[in-house]
Amino acid sequence: MKRVAVLISGRGSNLGALIDAADASYKIILVLSNVEGAGGLERAKAAGIATQVVPHAGKTRESFDTEMDTALRTAGAELVVLAGFMRILSDGFVRGWEGKLINIHPSLLPAYKGIKVHERVIEAREALSGASVHFVVPELDAGPVIAQASVPVHPSDTPQTLADRILEIEHKLYPEALKLLARDEVKLQNGLAVFAA
Ligand code: GRF
Repeated sequence: MKRVAVLISGRGSNLGALIDAADASYKIILVLSNVEGAGGLERAKAAGIATQVVPHAGKTRESFDTEMDTALRTAGAELVVLAGFMRILSDGFVRGWEGKLINIHPSLLPAYKGIKVHERVIEAREALSGASVHFVVPELDAGPVIAQASVPVHPSDTPQTLADRILEIEHKLYPEALKLLARDEVKLQNGLAVFAA
């Protein structure tokens, strides 16, 4: 059973899905937030999971990341899952967790990296959007994709209605992708997500 730490900044609905879907392949041992009062912290506490807040204000990116890295290693984390964690991580941190660090992004990567995804998808009149779980590499939202799921974009969609539709599939996709990694059924190799034969 892999020991998993989840990094959040906000409401933590994906964290909730990961808590609910945990099976013999992974156990969430720590929830770390850079934001005091992040809703997901309460969700974690209610499930009996240790929480820790590491504020980022007034710190360099490197010193903040070192502090988080220490918290993760002290807790014995083996895998690190970003779930609405709104800080860009330093190259050093990312390299230190290479192949062990994943993120979920609400688009069909490599399309629509970065922020204001749903606004841009609607503006471009895309017929499909979705969510992607990917290994984290130093370049933002550019890591190899482990799993994707798509939803239709309706002409009447607002960024909010589209975000809500995608969030529903995120909650199914993220636990499944984490289980693949926790069971060593996928790994990061030569810059690719390689699946076990
Ligand atoms: C999700 O849409 C996720 O794709 C993005 O941030 C949002 C987090 O939502 N990275 P929540 O905090 O898990 O509810």
